[in-house]
Amino acid sequence: MQSVPIHVEHLSKTFGSVRAVDDLTFTVRPGTVTGFLGPNGAGKTTTLRMVLGLCRPSSGRAVIGERAYHDHQRPASVVGAALEATGFHPGRTGLAHLLAYAPQTGVSNARCREVLDLVGMGFAADRRVGGYSMGMRQRLGLATALLADPPVIVLDEPANGLDPEGIRWLRGLLRHFAEEGRTVLVSSHVLSEVQSTVDDVVIIARGRLVHASSLRDLAALAAPETYVESPVLPRFAALADERGWRHRPESAGIALAGPTPAEVGAAAYASGVELHQLTPRGVSLEDVFLRLTADQPRPAAGEVA
Ligand SMILES: Nc1ncnc2c1ncn2[C@@H]1O[C@H](COP(=O)(O)OP(=O)(O)O)[C@@H](O)[C@H]1O
Ligand SMILES: [Mg+2]
Repeated sequence: MQSVPIHVEHLSKTFGSVRAVDDLTFTVRPGTVTGFLGPNGAGKTTTLRMVLGLCRPSSGRAVIGERAYHDHQRPASVVGAALEATGFHPGRTGLAHLLAYAPQTGVSNARCREVLDLVGMGFAADRRVGGYSMGMRQRLGLATALLADPPVIVLDEPANGLDPEGIRWLRGLLRHFAEEGRTVLVSSHVLSEVQSTVDDVVIIARGRLVHASSLRDLAALAAPETYVESPVLPRFAALADERGWRHRPESAGIALAGPTPAEVGAAAYASGVELHQLTPRGVSLEDVFLRLTADQPRPAAGEVA
């Protein structure tokens, strides 16, 4: 399998006054599944459309391998993509839909049947797409992406509409593609949906990159925390600084990453700092995701951004 990375470089897209994608830079490595994550409206679909040459960047560029999508001689054989599963002609059968794509990708009729089997849709090949469920449409979209056996696969919210069994199946399939050396980029607005599928994560919010790393490094941010309330909170904060504990204000108290409640309690006792709450807390990956993508406070008028 050809090794073809995706490079997104200072990519921006403005629609009127909406900055949908704002100076986005990241790389998607071959041989991995990368989760492209962010809440609804974050700019995921717009970014993928620019990667796929369906929408012109306001500035910056997206490169697949060595060149932009349209500069490939046969783009469809380099990148297989499924964007939101809505663009099917309802009167066509699943097979007819793929056959309509086949001339573009230069594949045979037999290959169309083969990819339908590959996505578990052989049984519905001759049924009209109008009668397909959301999950069946997702699978048909995936079949379209796979037609030309491309080294790069880009899927926009492929888990939408799939049942838990379907999500597990998709996970296995994507993992298999990555193991073959393909570059797999999958968007989702729910981290937990792709958490056990992806190797790398690229997280955006309001069009901007907020985090890019391996899933393992993201998980390290989800270490357990200790929550503290105290009538002398500034003194407690000073104590935490003294000990080198990372902390941030939260509701009426302070959340600390690192020390256990016992360590915090002992330090407070030794310094005579009164505590009113000392609570251990698990932090899920989803919590980290929500924190990373939460609305940042906007600078007040007159303040320099
Ligand atoms: N064709 C368009 N015209 C105007 N605004 C658009 C268009 N496409 C997307 N947007 C806006 O760009 C922002 C990002 O949208 P989108 O890329 O669809 O986000 P996501 O896929 O992460 O949910 C949203 O504010 C959306 O309303
Ligand atoms: Mg979208």
